[in-house]
Amino acid sequence: MAIRNIRLFGDPVLEKQCKEVKEVTPRTLELIDDMFETMYDANGVGLAAPQVGILKRICVVDVTYEDPILLINPRIMEKSGEQTGSEGCLSLPGKCGDVTRANYVKVEYYDENMERHEIEGTELLARALQHEIEHLDGHLYTEKVIGDLRDVGEEAPSDEDTEE
Ligand code: NI
Repeated sequence: MAIRNIRLFGDPVLEKQCKEVKEVTPRTLELIDDMFETMYDANGVGLAAPQVGILKRICVVDVTYEDPILLINPRIMEKSGEQTGSEGCLSLPGKCGDVTRANYVKVEYYDENMERHEIEGTELLARALQHEIEHLDGHLYTEKVIGDLRDVGEEAPSDEDTEE
């Protein structure tokens, strides 16, 4: 296992479309191990393969640090509801911004044995799944941020502040 270099905002690899995984090879398994290690090392709750420079439809998510989920060729099957909250990305360290997303998603994906599964998530898990899957199509949360990006730890402007 190894920690890989996380590509930062502005790197063109983050804007590319990723390819479907047809076969899980030993190299794919190594990539997956490295992605988990890299995500945990950076204290992230999700990481997509393009963030380590690999244009494959693979992402890892763990919103509790106890429930690692590997998603190969994930696809959102259903979504509903709405949530607005602060969101960040390991490709924009130290930054966050408010994003509105579905509050519920159902996602189909494949595991390392290319067996199909479905996962349902709400709130933070739903947010992380949507965020990571968008990475696979070359999209970053910055496209959806309401207002400006903030530094992590900086307070969101209240309605009163912005009314002026
Ligand atoms: Ni991200």
